[in-house]
Amino acid sequence: MKIAVGCDHGGLEHKNAIVEHLKSRGFEVTDFGIYEQKSVDYPDIAVKVTSAITSGEHELGILVCGTGIGMSIAANKVKGIRAAACSEHFSAKYTRMHNNSNVLCLGGRVIGVGTALELVDLFIDTPFEGDRHQRRIDKIAEIEKNQ
Ligand code: RB5
Repeated sequence: MKIAVGCDHGGLEHKNAIVEHLKSRGFEVTDFGIYEQKSVDYPDIAVKVTSAITSGEHELGILVCGTGIGMSIAANKVKGIRAAACSEHFSAKYTRMHNNSNVLCLGGRVIGVGTALELVDLFIDTPFEGDRHQRRIDKIAEIEKNQ
């Protein structure tokens, strides 16, 4: 599985730890930056990571900003992206099971690196349940289509 990862200045330490962690687990990871501590605009990173998913090159994405919220708002503007800002385990698991989320957004100023890595593992390892949940996702796609 190929995973796209990115962050703004609120999530650099977390992003670097996530990249290393995913690589150590044997995943192919593309790191869309940032690579040094400098102020950037999170939508610019969100569009890079989500494009890597909608192009079909990557299956899942991880985005880190200060809260996880700005990244999730930006990512969810992209057709076909279902991004979830999570700061605890239950949501990270169920957003895969029920929403088939393809992007996990984390807050570098909300959770520690250890929790972030656990949420990433849960997100990556949990399969979508399909069935009635697919019907609901189809309805989300319909909303997108009608905009
Ligand atoms: C940047 O200061 C901060 O606004 C950003 O990382 C994020 O938290 C936005 O939602």
